[in-house]
Amino acid sequence: MLTVRAPATSANLGSGFDVFGVALERPADVVRLEKADRVTIEVTGAGSQYIPEDPDKNTVGAVADALDAPARIQIDKGVRPASGLGSSAASAAAAAVGLNELYDRGYSREELVPIAAKGEAVVSGDAHDDNVAPSIMGGFTIATDKGVTQVDADIPLVACLPDIVVSTRDARNVVPETARVDQMVETVGNAASLTTGMHRDDPELVGRGMHDTVVTPARAKLIDGYEQVREAAIAAGATGVTISGAGPTVIAACAEEDRRKIASTMLDAFSERGVDARVYQTRIGRGAEIF
Ligand code: HSE
Repeated sequence: MLTVRAPATSANLGSGFDVFGVALERPADVVRLEKADRVTIEVTGAGSQYIPEDPDKNTVGAVADALDAPARIQIDKGVRPASGLGSSAASAAAAAVGLNELYDRGYSREELVPIAAKGEAVVSGDAHDDNVAPSIMGGFTIATDKGVTQVDADIPLVACLPDIVVSTRDARNVVPETARVDQMVETVGNAASLTTGMHRDDPELVGRGMHDTVVTPARAKLIDGYEQVREAAIAAGATGVTISGAGPTVIAACAEEDRRKIASTMLDAFSERGVDARVYQTRIGRGAEIF
């Protein structure tokens, strides 16, 4: 029996749509695996009632198939599905790392990323590496079709998850098909600033680089209170605020000393709109760990 803890993640970070991602220190999924004749899946924890246990419909079933690694798999969800925090990716990442170890398949962490992404595609209908990459490799990741670049970074973050459902399909449908050249120039500048900020562990530069005028404004309309929460977080000291993944989580970068105040301010701002929310005071963390 093997236990793997795989972290929640935040993809996009504003300027890095479908490319950037970070592993979060918390929350995380915990997955227990043991060899068996066929794949069976049990799911408990946050939002487990919405997650199918049929291996053909669960993210980890596809991962077990891809690794030819049948197992009894117990998933304890720390990450609610449809949160924008890489819930299905965390389970897929844990399964990929755990089954690779259990069956001694010998894949590197980077090689496991597309394998875990196959699992995520089962539920999202589309394979993106921007959540599975940081959940497997940790830190800040740049996932492109040429592979994954990983940077160990340490930035304090606040992730505020409102009690709102945003379907990934709706969130992808509102993404504009085109962007202007001036928006492209701005996005390149912001993405470069953010990447440099990650190398320097500089929350100011990371926050500045999270600004995005292409995808985020279109998606913000799906999150009741987004603009108020963003403004409140900035007033409380956040260096940058954006939508985590496809939403509805709103994520803020900050200096360590401002984190607590930003967390309570974001909760209050959602509450003033009549929206319940929960908040994670977190930071960029490690990738999946085997116990
Ligand atoms: N980049 C994806 C999106 C997140 O924003 O739709 C899930 O991989």
